[in-house]
Amino acid sequence: MDIAAFARLLAAGWTLIRADALLPRELDPALPPGTRALAGFLRLFAGRAARQGRPGERLARALERLGPVAIKLGQVLSTRADVFGAAFADDLSRLKDRLPPFPDDQARAEIERELGRPVAELFPIFGGAVAAASLAQAHEAVMADGRRVAVKVLRPGVERRVADDSRTLLLAARLIEGLVPAARRLEPVAFVATVIRALQLELDMRFEAAGAAEMAEVMARDGYMRAPGVIWDGVAKRVLTLEWVGGAPLSDPATLELPGLDRQALADNVIRAFLAQALDHGVFHADLHEGNLFVVAPAELTAVDFGIVGRLGPRERRYLAEILYGFLTRDYARVAEVHFEAGYVPAHHDRDAFAQALRAVGEPVFGRAANQVSMSRLLTQLFEITALFEMRLRPELVLLQKTMVTVEGVARRLCPDHDLWAAADPVVRRWIARELSPVARVRELADEAVRALRAIARLAEAETAPPVVVEPVAAPGFAWFAAGAAVAGAAFVLAWALSQA
Ligand SMILES: Nc1ncnc2c1ncn2[C@@H]1O[C@H](COP(=O)(O)OP(=O)(O)O)[C@@H](O)[C@H]1O
Ligand SMILES: [Mg+2]
Repeated sequence: MDIAAFARLLAAGWTLIRADALLPRELDPALPPGTRALAGFLRLFAGRAARQGRPGERLARALERLGPVAIKLGQVLSTRADVFGAAFADDLSRLKDRLPPFPDDQARAEIERELGRPVAELFPIFGGAVAAASLAQAHEAVMADGRRVAVKVLRPGVERRVADDSRTLLLAARLIEGLVPAARRLEPVAFVATVIRALQLELDMRFEAAGAAEMAEVMARDGYMRAPGVIWDGVAKRVLTLEWVGGAPLSDPATLELPGLDRQALADNVIRAFLAQALDHGVFHADLHEGNLFVVAPAELTAVDFGIVGRLGPRERRYLAEILYGFLTRDYARVAEVHFEAGYVPAHHDRDAFAQALRAVGEPVFGRAANQVSMSRLLTQLFEITALFEMRLRPELVLLQKTMVTVEGVARRLCPDHDLWAAADPVVRRWIARELSPVARVRELADEAVRALRAIARLAEAETAPPVVVEPVAAPGFAWFAAGAAVAGAAFVLAWALSQA
């Protein structure tokens, strides 16, 4: 038994009890009598903070106090509206990750140790912290060549803190899994392990630097949004240096009043940037709130903070595009089909009943004026309803949906009657036209044929060739010729058939 972890767990439990966030009173009606009695007893110790706010708000406050691991846990829990309900998830998502900064001297010492050079040499001007969170803080600085930069430095000792609290959280998950059979379905230990894993990656600034560089490349292809360049000389495990982003922070209400600002175009850019990243490139900035966005009039948008990058594989991208398109065209049978095809919904469920459930999601949303349609609400409800059909959501899609909620919020605050579908339309249609066009279908079928024939060729070789020697250069021979001819033939026939259709 890890005594230290156990002690920290008790302390954390106490913080939650004080906020009435462990077994909140709102949960009482759903609890069995024994647990309810226990909850009532614990509530005797609740403090003043327990009286204010909804359970999600109380939990958020308690987690803020418990440090980086708890904050991360809260952020991840807030993405599971499908499990905890939209109101709770929404309250939890407002959890703040802002702390008083640590002293500049410590930041300088950290940078010198990590980069192996005096700060005065690297950054002749090194200013105070501009922002501080539980893992790191950011400083404004100027390099010797005059470039203005932002230097992000991890909090001293934060790795130790995260390691300790991770063990505590893991212990809690094990206890829950052992003692509360009802919670086992949610796989607490596996869940906590993924949270800890995500946090460990965020503790390596080299990883964030790579995320920034990759996102800058991806964003440059579409032009909807930009990212600051990485100054690789200023990157180490605990330090990240990025070009300074000029422009006004979107988190400042005064920014919306900037002269010459085209709020409609900005809102379009936010939506299109996000969708193009996710659909076209399969990699998206997963933390696109106002605090991470900067603008220059009329509609130039730059993002910072690349700690969380979401990724979608080809299957998820296709799934996403197809459901958006299916809902746009109200083809519920098709949307249902997509869920079964992707294997998201177990095959034993009734497709027609599923299509009916989808209609229940789609019709009220699309019955409204276009500027009131919410794409993220559609996805949230879709994921809620699909839970009834035992749909197992891929975590990437949960992250995407959460980001979409954020992105839509940003767009709506920029431009209250913004038409999201009109903004999304060109990106979704472009994707559909490219990926689901007859030509793309032929290409895809040809790819499949090649794969199948390759397998056959391999089998044929295995039968004729001696088993041990694999000569990559001398291999193919007749099997490849046959495969090539067959694919060409199949592609030709298909192209012909499609041109007749
Ligand atoms: N390249 C940059 N240019 C200007 N300001 C930046 C830059 N990077 C970060 N900042 C400022 O520092 C703040 C915190 O940095 P961020 O990367 O968002 O860290 P956190 O993960 O703590 O939110 C940002 O909200 C922004 O105000
Ligand atoms: Mg940030």
